[in-house]
Amino acid sequence: MGFFGLFVIGMICVLVRIGDAQMNAFLVNCGSNSSINVNGRKWIGDSSPGNNITMSAPGIEASTAMVSGDTVYASLYKTARIFTDRLNYTLQGAQGSYFLRLHFYPFAFENFNANQSYFSVEANGLKLVSEFNVPGEIGDKNSNLQASKGNSSFTSLVKEYFFNVESNGIAIDFIPSKGSFGFVNAIEVIPVADKLFLDSVKKVGGNGANSSLNLSKRGIETMYRLNVGGSTINPDQDSELWRLWELDSGYMINVDAGSEIRNKSYIVYALPNDTYFAPIPVYESARTMSNNDVLEKRFNMSWKLEVDPDFDYLVRLHFCELVYNISNQRNFRIYINNKTAADNFDIFTRAGGMNKAYHEDYFDVMPSQSNNLWIQLGPDASAAAAGTDALLNGLEVFKLSRDGNLAFVQSYQKSEEKKSSRSLILWVAIGAGIASIVILAAIVVLIFWLCRKPSTQQGDTKKTSPGWRPIFLLDSTTNAKGSLRGQNPSGFAASRSGRRFTLAEIRAATNNFDESLVIGVGGFGKVFKGELEDCTLAAIKRANPQSQQGLTEFETEIEMLSKLRHRHLVAMIGFCEEQNEMILVYEFMANGTLRSHVFGTDLPSLTWKQRIEVCIGAARGLHYLHTGSERGIIHRDVKTTNILLDENFVAKMADFGLSKTGPSLEHTHVSTAVKGSFGYLDPEYFRRQQLTEKSDVYSFGVVLFEVICARAVINPTLPKDQINLAEWAMKWQRQKSLETIIDPRLNEKYSPESLTRFGEIAEKCLAEEGKSRPTMGEVLWHLEYVLQIQEAWLSTIAAEMSFTGSQPLELPDDNDTTELDKEGGLDKPCKNGESAAVTADQPDQLVVGGSEEFPQISSLQGR
Ligand SMILES: *[C@@H]1O[C@H](CO)[C@@H](O)[C@H](O)[C@H]1NC(C)=O
Ligand SMILES: *[C@@H]1O[C@H](CO)[C@@H](O)[C@H](O)[C@H]1NC(C)=O
Ligand SMILES: *[C@@H]1O[C@H](CO)[C@@H](O)[C@H](O)[C@H]1NC(C)=O
Ligand SMILES: *[C@@H]1O[C@H](CO)[C@@H](O)[C@H](O)[C@H]1NC(C)=O
Ligand SMILES: *[C@@H]1O[C@H](CO)[C@@H](O)[C@H](O)[C@H]1NC(C)=O
Ligand SMILES: *[C@@H]1O[C@H](CO)[C@@H](O)[C@H](O)[C@H]1NC(C)=O
Ligand SMILES: *[C@@H]1O[C@H](CO)[C@@H](O)[C@H](O)[C@H]1NC(C)=O
Ligand SMILES: *[C@@H]1O[C@H](CO)[C@@H](O)[C@H](O)[C@H]1NC(C)=O
Ligand SMILES: *[C@@H]1O[C@H](CO)[C@@H](O)[C@H](O)[C@H]1NC(C)=O
Ligand SMILES: *[C@@H]1O[C@H](CO)[C@@H](O)[C@H](O)[C@H]1NC(C)=O
Ligand SMILES: *[C@@H]1O[C@H](CO)[C@@H](O)[C@H](O)[C@H]1NC(C)=O
Repeated sequence: MGFFGLFVIGMICVLVRIGDAQMNAFLVNCGSNSSINVNGRKWIGDSSPGNNITMSAPGIEASTAMVSGDTVYASLYKTARIFTDRLNYTLQGAQGSYFLRLHFYPFAFENFNANQSYFSVEANGLKLVSEFNVPGEIGDKNSNLQASKGNSSFTSLVKEYFFNVESNGIAIDFIPSKGSFGFVNAIEVIPVADKLFLDSVKKVGGNGANSSLNLSKRGIETMYRLNVGGSTINPDQDSELWRLWELDSGYMINVDAGSEIRNKSYIVYALPNDTYFAPIPVYESARTMSNNDVLEKRFNMSWKLEVDPDFDYLVRLHFCELVYNISNQRNFRIYINNKTAADNFDIFTRAGGMNKAYHEDYFDVMPSQSNNLWIQLGPDASAAAAGTDALLNGLEVFKLSRDGNLAFVQSYQKSEEKKSSRSLILWVAIGAGIASIVILAAIVVLIFWLCRKPSTQQGDTKKTSPGWRPIFLLDSTTNAKGSLRGQNPSGFAASRSGRRFTLAEIRAATNNFDESLVIGVGGFGKVFKGELEDCTLAAIKRANPQSQQGLTEFETEIEMLSKLRHRHLVAMIGFCEEQNEMILVYEFMANGTLRSHVFGTDLPSLTWKQRIEVCIGAARGLHYLHTGSERGIIHRDVKTTNILLDENFVAKMADFGLSKTGPSLEHTHVSTAVKGSFGYLDPEYFRRQQLTEKSDVYSFGVVLFEVICARAVINPTLPKDQINLAEWAMKWQRQKSLETIIDPRLNEKYSPESLTRFGEIAEKCLAEEGKSRPTMGEVLWHLEYVLQIQEAWLSTIAAEMSFTGSQPLELPDDNDTTELDKEGGLDKPCKNGESAAVTADQPDQLVVGGSEEFPQISSLQGR
């Protein structure tokens, strides 16, 4: 058979010699005998006569009536050629360098469903894919299709390869896996006249030394092609080579670390022969490090790209300086896989001026354990230059063949053995690395559960442990409204769900930042009440451009909130980052802060039952934060002004500006300096500077006392022993006489037992050592028990109908608008203490002067 094939090829070569040596493009409409026009290009039916295409076997012509998704290639994808036996296409008369693109569109035809196909493809002996399966089904919008991730309605998979043809034709060999079948919708072969790849490329971490890649003998697969900071560039906009340039944002670790800039004027190629590398629109947009004036310059713009291990990769970066017309304004460092690829990189100097389109190639080897390629641009501390900003316009990643192989060969079980072949393949593709993390996480969760179960029993038996429901089960006591408040079962969906608003939309919503709509003010800026186009109310937090601390918090908050969805966490609807504005849009919380309903305002104070319920809600939110992901999230700023109440008094945790993920922090631009609000700060965290979930538990304990006593956590106008609520309340709690200092507005309408229990929980939360404090889950469970006691008591009382009013007890001074700075008890002074207890980080009924500092302790500088 093979010999016969070679013979056929040989014959073809002889035949083709007669033809012209000019390079031909082949656009093949597979499974059809007719030609169609798509995008102004003529695609020739693979079975139409006289097309210079030879098929070794007829295969099966498949066609579907409709193709979903608004792809320009819809008419092309209506037909496919299916093969159950080996089939090769020979394209006669190709010579030189080519892009080969194979188009696969998932479909069903008779009893062939694309999701069950498995096959290999080789081109001129180069192995392209092996045991390949096209994921997805017709109309499956979630299919993970590589070439079209940027456009969710475009569900085809296009694999692109580049190689040199030395013979006089291309033979593309499709080989179905045993017992399975294969298919192809279209084949695109585009000649590349100019030299797109050089043989000698700088090695990452090689201090400028080059590696010889022997590229003319190797095959190349395009893994990623991103138009950084811009929009999708469709093939028809990349005139000669018909490449697709995807959006980069989906691959960034923190999209908001880079802001998009554009300038369409006067861009030219740095070298006249560079026109093939990328079309000009790629260079017209870029990503720079956000808000360079405000920034703490301690982070990288990072892209994380999944690739196959054990291959060599060529990374091509496209640059064009769009802003500065002198050198040394942006000097940065480029890291690939955490190794320095270039330092003191100044685009202006390298490209030879402003508006010069320019690119650099780097080469790195992906080790076998690793399937994520990291590309990072960050400040170069050693550069003596003025600017530390970075800029990137485009990014391409190419995989280089090894031993004639581009296919990622995995330990693959033969098809008879696999139950669900599709999920197996996807699973393997995800990679052993991630798999082990998942398994590890599962084990951790299991251990967590096993450890927690016994403590349920040692609690009160009256209760059938409602506190131990897995956090991802909804509690349906109140109807969740709309998807924003719905729970996501996994909770930590990888997708960023925040919507990006334009500044114009924000201006419309807030009546152009009408001062009368301000519902809170603080160092970060003002919070406006706004109404979105769809008439939903929103709290719109606008960063003060002068805010020095804002940006990191802003980014943290977007990042956290866009991953989190829970009934007891304030939902972020979206954000706006335009013209140096940093704006966050949250669901509107009609009833403001918990604090405003306990003391310090004229609002009616909450009943004891309501207070318990609010504490339960907040505890749920925190419990979810701590345990909902493999790496827990620590809120770091638990206080009554960060517990917000919706129109039904459902409590939600707000303000994730200081939040921090647990131990394995992915990006370290969140400072590890002690942060939090004075009066709520865990003394152990203060001493050891070691952050754990138990610091939140401490702060929550202070919240519980605040809810009982209805006074500021720090009140310097009081006698010395009363200034700090935590110390004072603990004193009474230890004497078991908390009722002495309880909020008189509760009017004795509480069950003494519930108060005792409540006090005990608070006391446990304030334990000196973190390890003696309960977990949020335990706190939650006990609070639910307290609620039951109170409810039982209320119904007894209601039955007796015998309330007796009692004398109001002495009310501690409640001076919560005092600016304070207090040192007592702590070894380091805190800048800006509890500070009028107003945080503009969330809407608040209280409005305090705009000159106020960011109401969290952000550093521990002495005064
Ligand atoms: C083409 O396919 C036939 C079997 O259909 C095979 O024998 C032959 O080797 C193939 N040719 C090439 C060049 O792969
Ligand atoms: C093309 O195929 C269709 C059916 O698939 C057939 O009716 C038609 O005759 C064919 N045309 C040619 C020129 O072979
Ligand atoms: C087939 O190849 C010949 C010679 O290279 C060329 O003249 C002709 O136009 C080709 N036919 C098609 C349909 O491309
Ligand atoms: C998806 O692709 C289609 C066709 O190329 C285009 O019209 C549409 O705007 C794209 N959608 C997005 C979100 O890029
Ligand atoms: C393939 O798709 C069909 C529907 O189109 C679906 O019923 C089937 O479960 C899918 N098979 C796999 C293995 O995903
Ligand atoms: C490395 O290769 C680049 C082209 O990729 C070339 O411009 C440069 O001169 C080479 N450097 C060395 C040291 O060979
Ligand atoms: C380059 O590739 C050819 C063919 O694969 C091989 O024979 C040769 O050894 C390679 N050279 C180097 C330096 O790798
Ligand atoms: C675009 O660049 C030109 C100089 O090349 C400059 O004059 C113009 O102001 C820039 N436009 C914007 C919107 O930045
Ligand atoms: C640019 O291309 C022309 C013709 O395509 C060639 O003669 C010239 O050497 C090239 N210049 C460079 C610097 O590669
Ligand atoms: C940027 O990334 C590199 C490589 O991962 C790392 O070594 C460096 O510390 C990072 N810089 C910052 C400021 O995070
Ligand atoms: C590279 O850096 C990123 C973050 O900067 C980190 O998540 C990743 O684990 C690092 N990779 C290696 C191989 O060290």
